[in-house]
Amino acid sequence: MSEPIVTVDELRKRYDGAPTDAVKGISFSIDEGEVFGLLGPNGAGKTTTIGVLTTRVLGTGGTVVVDGFDVSRDATSVKQRIAVVPQRPNLDRSLTALENLTFHAAYFGFSRRARKERAEQLLEAFGLGGRGNERVNNYSGGMAQRLMIARALMHRPRVLFLDEPTTGLDPQARLFLWDQIEELRDAGTTILLTTHDMVEAERLCHRIAIVDHGERIALDTPRGLRQLLPSSGGLEVIADHGDGPSGADGNAEGGAPGADALIATLRAALEPLGDAELDEVDDGRVRVRLFGNAAPGAVASAVEGAGALLISLRRLEGTLEDVFVHLTGRDLR
Ligand SMILES: Nc1ncnc2c1ncn2[C@@H]1O[C@H](COP(=O)(O)OP(=O)(O)O)[C@@H](O)[C@H]1O
Ligand SMILES: [Mg+2]
Repeated sequence: MSEPIVTVDELRKRYDGAPTDAVKGISFSIDEGEVFGLLGPNGAGKTTTIGVLTTRVLGTGGTVVVDGFDVSRDATSVKQRIAVVPQRPNLDRSLTALENLTFHAAYFGFSRRARKERAEQLLEAFGLGGRGNERVNNYSGGMAQRLMIARALMHRPRVLFLDEPTTGLDPQARLFLWDQIEELRDAGTTILLTTHDMVEAERLCHRIAIVDHGERIALDTPRGLRQLLPSSGGLEVIADHGDGPSGADGNAEGGAPGADALIATLRAALEPLGDAELDEVDDGRVRVRLFGNAAPGAVASAVEGAGALLISLRRLEGTLEDVFVHLTGRDLR
């Protein structure tokens, strides 16, 4: 890793007619050879950001420079230096896999022989060796996704953009793709990857920008992000309304009780033990993240002593999910 190959400065995008910006002044840079992650929930602005960086979407503010070229002034030069694997498959399903690859390379001016050779190499590298003459129509989702990446690499791009590459794949196909992205990373390919999967981001990325509602809310290495948690020794409690007369607020007739009373009860019971962050999760259950040095046993007793039902108690390991919840108060998915 060395010089930035991508520089994004105060990027903004407002779609025509939209009341607010989809991307609200995001900045970051990507070093050569780096795998950089944009991590955020649906609607965070990841695809829009990729759209501007790859010249498909016109930004409405800020500057983006890719390999020395400004995306708004030199779109053609930028396009020759990058490749995009979009969130939605866009292979030609009526063609064979090999044809999808060679047509792409022909567009970039590769000779007939060079494109056939490279296509065969890439099919092999992506576990599709021997299947090049099959129509893409017969390909599984995982195979199609690998073919999309192989196609993207045909013209030896300087930066590869992967928009949610594993969303919708089954666990096995996802693992296979992770291995292949790791191989690209180890070979020094510069990649910008978007995902809403923190396990994926943590495993693949050198650095990660967490984005939410069009804003960058954190940017660091996975390890640095985990250190944003106030204490790695925190505990997470999930609690529900207790039943019976001593219940936190009972199962009042006329529907499930709200979480507010439970939040108040738990806050009173747990604040003496540490710094508590409380929020409602599913079905009126409440999650408490407790930072400090409280012993798990003491926490469990306090929850039950308050008449609530302890559903789970775990140590916060400082996962990116924990970091996201800490920063936004919400779940990532
Ligand atoms: N073509 C479009 N026209 C208008 N609004 C859009 C368009 N594409 C995306 N948006 C809006 O911009 C916001 C960010 O979307 P997107 O960049 O697709 O987020 P993500 O990829 O993180 O899910 C969302 O509110 C979305 O509805
Ligand atoms: Mg998207």
